[in-house]
Amino acid sequence: MSDAPRQIFVTTALPYANGTFHIGHIMEYIQADIWVRFQRMQGHAVNFVGADDAHGAPIMIAAEKAGKTPQQFVADIAAGRKQYLDGFLVQYDNWYSTDSPENIALAQSIYRDLLAAGLIEARTIQQFYDPQKGMFLPDRFIKGECPHCHAPDQYGDNCESCGAVYAPTELVNPFSALTGARPELRESEHLFFKLSDARCIEFLKNWTASGAVQPEVLHKISEWLAPGDDGKPKIGDWDISRDAPYFGIEIPERPGKYFYVWLDAPVGYLASLKNLLEKRGESYDDYMAQPNLEQYHFIGKDIITFHTLFWPAMLHFSGRKVPNGVFVHGFMTVSGGEKMSKSRGTGLDPLKYLALDMNPEWLRYYLAAKLSAKNEDVDFTPADFMARVNADLIGKYVNIASRAAGFINKRFDGRLAALDAEGQALIEALRAALPDITQSYEAREYGRAVRSIMALCDRVNVYVDTHKPWELAKAPENDARLHAVCSACIEAFHILTIYLQPILPRLAAQAAHFLMVPPPSFSDVNIALGEGAQIGEYQHLMQRVTEKQLDALFGKNEAPAPAAEKAPKGKGQKKPAAPAASDDGAISFKDFEKIDLRAARIVECRRVEGSNKLLLLTLDAGDKDASGAPRLRQVFSGIAASYAPEDLTGTLCVLLANIPPKKMGSFGMSEGMVLSASGADDVPYLLQVPEGAQPGMRIS
Ligand code: 2FM
Ligand code: ZN
Repeated sequence: MSDAPRQIFVTTALPYANGTFHIGHIMEYIQADIWVRFQRMQGHAVNFVGADDAHGAPIMIAAEKAGKTPQQFVADIAAGRKQYLDGFLVQYDNWYSTDSPENIALAQSIYRDLLAAGLIEARTIQQFYDPQKGMFLPDRFIKGECPHCHAPDQYGDNCESCGAVYAPTELVNPFSALTGARPELRESEHLFFKLSDARCIEFLKNWTASGAVQPEVLHKISEWLAPGDDGKPKIGDWDISRDAPYFGIEIPERPGKYFYVWLDAPVGYLASLKNLLEKRGESYDDYMAQPNLEQYHFIGKDIITFHTLFWPAMLHFSGRKVPNGVFVHGFMTVSGGEKMSKSRGTGLDPLKYLALDMNPEWLRYYLAAKLSAKNEDVDFTPADFMARVNADLIGKYVNIASRAAGFINKRFDGRLAALDAEGQALIEALRAALPDITQSYEAREYGRAVRSIMALCDRVNVYVDTHKPWELAKAPENDARLHAVCSACIEAFHILTIYLQPILPRLAAQAAHFLMVPPPSFSDVNIALGEGAQIGEYQHLMQRVTEKQLDALFGKNEAPAPAAEKAPKGKGQKKPAAPAASDDGAISFKDFEKIDLRAARIVECRRVEGSNKLLLLTLDAGDKDASGAPRLRQVFSGIAASYAPEDLTGTLCVLLANIPPKKMGSFGMSEGMVLSASGADDVPYLLQVPEGAQPGMRIS
């Protein structure tokens, strides 16, 4: 293979613009985002786009119910997307809409090409009509029993239970989901894409067998291409038109007829890309014409047929590039519970997760550890989540840095030493895993990548436990050994961080800052930080997940309101957001209990260079790291005008321990807030806890 960067175009399924994201969406976006970040770290050029799937009768009906125009309705939904995407560190290059000029032009142009290819046919069909509502019923608003597997309560276009695609008229015992009326059959002229045409079948057989789909997916879709009892392929022609009233794209030269939403939805991938390229001043046509362009779609298992049969055929017979791969994932379940399909998602609320200040990288790591390239469901189990995050991610990986950095900083001026032979051998072993790990990422075998990386962490921890830096630190004659051992740990941490970067982009950026290296590519695992390299002050990289957070997430005790609905914060840093208050300003005891107030010993107190307001407190608030050693917190407080550092050292103060860490400009992170009283003049009086109390004691 040549060393030239690959040109890669990646999408995730476009969510309907009539609902907020649920965890199934987030899982797909994280899966794709990891792959995109990996490809970029390999030096490849990726365009990663998404969009809202804005059209269709369900959205039209939902907008009507909400008293909005469909355009306003979808714009309101679109405005809510960013908080999820930013919150879970999913970085699209563009997020657009299928209700856009690019999509209208592209969909109409694809249709004209298919018409010219002789693959569009008009037929008069009988369709369900709701006599109470006075309109032809969209597929999603006719329900009944699946004609294939007889699952009850299935939608009119495809079965969520067995995946079959059918005409609504095939449903057993149909009813209108709008009015409950039994629908009547009426005639209307519709346009069909002739998928059963021999040319289409031939093309699809070749394309699906070309490696573009996973083996288990191929197995499933082959059934649709195989001849049935009547000798004809099971896949029928595809009805691509709908009658007005419809929120969608008008079909050229067919007044009153619109494209069925599934015709223009995947075209939205191209529309979002075109919009992105044109914003950058690049040519969409030139981009798509690149012979080496690779196009991949990440999707869920419920929309396989649309993406592996209809979409490639639309592209091919309109003379366009076909996808190189369609990557299908399973659903997400919670503790073996109900599946989280897109239309019926339940369980783990992504916004609640974020509102509880749960770290998005915990979820990214957990999902990565469980995802493979197979179309398999992923189960979220709270206990498993906690074990993987706390024991593996933090216990095995993050602690490597925290165990070594303190010694390097305090004893050796923050500089690394040359490694001894054993340390060097350890680093070589870590580097040797590079091809295997990159291959796992490439193949979307993230679970395998995580297992390999954790096995490497185990090796590093064995090295640490063998050499016991905390023992070496007790005798000055061991200084050189201590320096070499801790330096090997920091070099190892650097390599492991590169391996984990596609999954943990934020932590990797913090680590790069602490290691004083630029954002790495994968090949940087072969470049040592080296003897004499300077590292920065170690800031704690990741908190542990608590049972309390998981209980709150799953509603075992009430969670705080999502960010957007939180009570407004006071101006000053000292005033925490008020828990939801009733009209008379009273809060419930449950709300009060959410506030983690603790006695904390001020172990050290310093002035902050460059600030005449802040003091930097090092606090023992009773936290422990994985090895059971006390974990100290750094907290900044704006009390420098009232207190001399030496007056506070050794005293006990009151810490608000469960406020999210806050970046204090260029001074560093503050991991909590100490409480003080103040009046109109804003002079602070630090709250103190009487001697006798122990650090970590709850204040209630
Ligand atoms: O199933 C869905 O949520 C669809 N809105 C997915 C569309 S994917 C693509 F075709 F736009
Ligand atoms: Zn079925």
